[in-house]
Order: sequence, then C-alpha cells, then structure tokens
Amino acid sequence: MKKTFVLFTIALISFAFVNITSVLEPNESPTYIPPSKQRTGDAAKGYEYLTTGDYLKSGIPYTFFMMGAPKDSNNYLNRSGFNKNLSHDFTAVKAPNGELVVAPNCLQCHSQVFDGKLVVGMGNSLSDFTVNRQSTALIAEKMMKNLTGTNAKKYEAAKNFIDALKVISPNLITSIKGVNLADALAAILVAHRDPKTLQWSDSNLMSMPTEIIPTDVPAWWLLKKKNAMFYNGFGRGDFGRFLMASNLLTVSDTSEAREVDSHFNDVLSYIYSINAPKYPKPVDEKLAANGRKVFAANCSSCHGTYGEGGKYPNLLIPENIIQTDSSLYTSNYSSPQFVNWFNKSWFTSGDHPAKLVPYRGYIAPPLDGVWATAPYLHNGSVPNLEAMLNSKIRPAYWQRSFSRPSYNYEIPGWNYETKNEAGNNEVYNTTQKGYSNSGHYFGDKLNNKERTAVIEYLKTL
Ligand code: HEC
Ligand code: HEC
Repeated sequence: MKKTFVLFTIALISFAFVNITSVLEPNESPTYIPPSKQRTGDAAKGYEYLTTGDYLKSGIPYTFFMMGAPKDSNNYLNRSGFNKNLSHDFTAVKAPNGELVVAPNCLQCHSQVFDGKLVVGMGNSLSDFTVNRQSTALIAEKMMKNLTGTNAKKYEAAKNFIDALKVISPNLITSIKGVNLADALAAILVAHRDPKTLQWSDSNLMSMPTEIIPTDVPAWWLLKKKNAMFYNGFGRGDFGRFLMASNLLTVSDTSEAREVDSHFNDVLSYIYSINAPKYPKPVDEKLAANGRKVFAANCSSCHGTYGEGGKYPNLLIPENIIQTDSSLYTSNYSSPQFVNWFNKSWFTSGDHPAKLVPYRGYIAPPLDGVWATAPYLHNGSVPNLEAMLNSKIRPAYWQRSFSRPSYNYEIPGWNYETKNEAGNNEVYNTTQKGYSNSGHYFGDKLNNKERTAVIEYLKTL
C-alpha cells in the first residue's frame, strides 16, 4: 500500500515536472528581432519594375492570352502599350528569345480593389485558389507543342512557365476562397530546383509539402517598420532576396536570378514608400482618445505606439503566449527541408545574403491601416476587429460575398453571415487544420466600453 503510494507520488511529481518544463520551453518570453542591413534604391524605378518589369521572363504568348482572357478596360495602373489591355495583376514582357508573353505579377496577391479603387500593397483577401488549373496547363502545352516554324518560338518562351504550372496546379488548391497559399507555392518550387544552380527538374528533388497551410497576405506598408519578413518573422538578412523569390517560378539559371535581383533594391524602396490608407469616415475623437489610453495599457508593449515619436518594438511572441493556430510555424520544424534548402541556396550567397530563422510563434505586427486589412490573424480566420478583441463572438463558420464584397466600417471588417456548419468554398471553416481562430485573447479582459474605444482608436492608425 505504502509502496504504491510512493510510486504514485513520484509519478505525479515527474508528471508535473514534465508539464512545467514543456511550458517553459524554449521561448517563454517575447524575443526582440534585431535589424539587418538593407540595400537602398529608387522607389519610382521600383514601382515601374514592379508593374511592368520582367522579373518573370516566361509566360503565355500574348496573342494566346488575349484569346483566352477578356480584355480588361479598367487599366487601374494607367499602363501603356501591351499592358493597357491587361488586368493589373498581369504584365506583358519580352522573353529572352524576343517573344512577347504575359506573366502574372506581384499584384496578384499584393493588391486589392477596395471601394472601387485598386490599392497597391493591400493584401488580396479576395483571391481564389480553389480551382485546379492543371487541365488548362496541359491543354496549353499541347497546343503550343504543336506549333511549328517561327511559331515554335512561342512554345520556347512559354516552356518554363508551363513546366511550373503543370507541377504546381494539382498540388496547390485551397478548400475555401480568400486564403493564400504562397508558402506552399514556394515550397513546391524549391522542391523542383537545385539550391545552388536553381536548375529546374520535372520530378521533385525532395519531399513536397503534404498540406496547404492557409495564410492571409500582410500589407506592404507595414514592412518599413519590421526587422523580419513574414508572419513568423523567419525572413532575415536582405529583404530584396525574398521579394524576388517569385522569380523561382520560371527562372532559367543564376545569371538570370542575379539580373532580377539587381532591381529589388528599387522594389524594396517602393514598398517602403507606401503608406497605410486613411480611414475615410468620421472618427469620434473623444472615444478614440480614451481608446488610445486603453491601447497604451494593454496593447502597446507588443504592437508599439503611433503618431509622432511612435515606437515599434519588433517582437516575436512565443506560442505559449499568443496561442493562435500553430500550423504555419510548426511546419518549419516538421518539414525542415524547405528552410534547409533556402539556407544553403543561391539566396544566401554574395554580399547581400538572406536567411531563414524559424521560430515557434508569430511577429506582433504594426497596426497601421489595420481598419482596412480584414480578415484578421495570420490565417485570416477572424472577420472583423470587434471579434479580434472578443474571442467569444468569433464565428466558427462564416461566409462573406466574393462577387459583391461588402465592408463594415463601424466594427471594421467584412460583412458576413454566421453559419452552423461547413458549406461551399465561400464558408470559412475554422475547424479545419490551419484555419483555427483561437488565441490572441488580450482583448477579452477589456469591458465592452473599453473595446469600443480601442476600435475607435485603431481606426486612426
Ligand atoms: C501567390 C501570391 C503571392 C505573390 C504572387 C507574391 N506574394 Fe508576396 N506574399 C504572399 C504571402 C501569402 C505572404 C505572407 C507569407 C507568410 O508570411 O507566411 C507574402 C509576403 C510578402 C512580403 C512580406 C511582408 C511582411 O510584412 O512580412 C513582401 C514584402 C512580399 N510578399 C513582396 C512580394 C513581391 C515584391 C512579389 C512579386 C515579386 C510578391 N510578394 C509576390 C503572397 C504572394
Ligand atoms: C503579447 C503580445 C500582444 C499583445 C499584448 C497584443 N497583441 Fe495583438 N497581436 C500579437 C500577435 C503576435 C499577433 C499576430 C498573431 C497571429 O497572426 O497569429 C497580433 C495580432 C493582432 C491583430 C491582427 C492584425 C492582423 O492584421 O491580422 C490585431 C488587430 C491586434 N493584434 C490588436 C491588438 C490589440 C487591440 C491589443 C490590446 C487589446 C493587442 N493586440 C494585444 C501580439 C499581441
């Protein structure tokens, strides 16, 4: 009897010990991110390159593209020449063999039409990655392979793009609209490339991601404050190197990569020059002033202070404190081959190297323009700021309109309908892996009056 009791006590003690160590392990408090040196450049040139430049040098031949895609008459970017009739998220470029091709550009994911205007740098939360485009890629390839004579050059100019599309399309599908999968896209592309020479291989050279972890897209105007890129803050060193990583879609070799890289100091300067859009409706100044105090007491330690003399602390918040969905950062530990690829790749070479430094947690982002960047959290699981600050009212299943997106300026965020269960691909389902809306409970301890005041203050950032 006594013996059993002693054993039981030992078991209990060791159990408690295990628990304590796992709670304290290994990043128990926020971690400061030190700055790294960035190249300087010319913002105007960067904008020009971003919207008309050939950072992808392979794509769909212009004449074919115009047959398949409707002419876009918005010309939001006021572009001229062949770009005039393309939507803002595609660019007409000359392939190395002189053929004119159409390639996707950064604005596919980094711009959004908001209130009838295109906002460059706003993360696109209306994109649709639910479609498998593999059959389109195969048909396009078949059509082009059959071209002969001088037209065979069209296939040559499209080959890199089609090769990549064939590999990524069947593997890159999300179950719902509005979430992004750029991280999985990058992983698939590097699985097909030699880290040093960037040479393409039709078969994968290492194991591919087994699941698509959804993310939102961070607004570009926040980057000028941040010492690290990406939600988990693992992008360190030269930011231009990460900005140009889209080039992995079609790059032929490292001399092309070097040429493209030489423009990304300018692109970074342009991104640094973007400011958050101002809240367009009246703000209750008195309420916002109260909210500023509540914010200073409850939020500033992580998110910083704003206005003149504002300071941003650049902190990574560990999992035991933030408690939001962990899938995004844990994948760097369960599938370390992608981080390893990058850290021995061409991207870490030369006089302005980049590197990936994984972390179990997320960066506390600057909140400039946060009124406009719903949905919230790194996976876009929370529809508005009111629900961000009160976890009890976060909907488990919610649906917004993608054909007629409608924004609520009062509790800033998307207008939505709460559902009782999962539904079609417009219903955000927070019970799926990677889609959880848990964590960030810091607003829960405020009362309703304080929350309303903080929201009014957030509108002024
Ligand atoms: C297919 C969609 C897609 C395309 C195309 C794309 N991005 Fe991104 N980008 C993302 C997503 C998603 C993230 C966030 C990923 C994460 O943090 O896990 C991101 C992150 C970034 C960030 C980091 C912002 C921050 O604050 O951490 C910058 C800057 C950026 N992209 C620039 C670019 C540029 C420049 C291009 C074109 C050369 C480009 N992106 C093309 C989807 C895309
Ligand atoms: C301990 C640090 C910490 C505190 C305190 C904190 N936050 Fe956060 N906040 C974070 C982190 C980290 C994230 C990103 C979490 C994620 O995306 O998974 C975040 C995200 C957010 C977002 C979503 C941003 C976006 O674009 O998706 C908002 C809004 C926000 N916080 C507001 C607040 C407010 C208001 C307070 C005070 C009531 C507060 N936070 C307190 C760390 C903190």
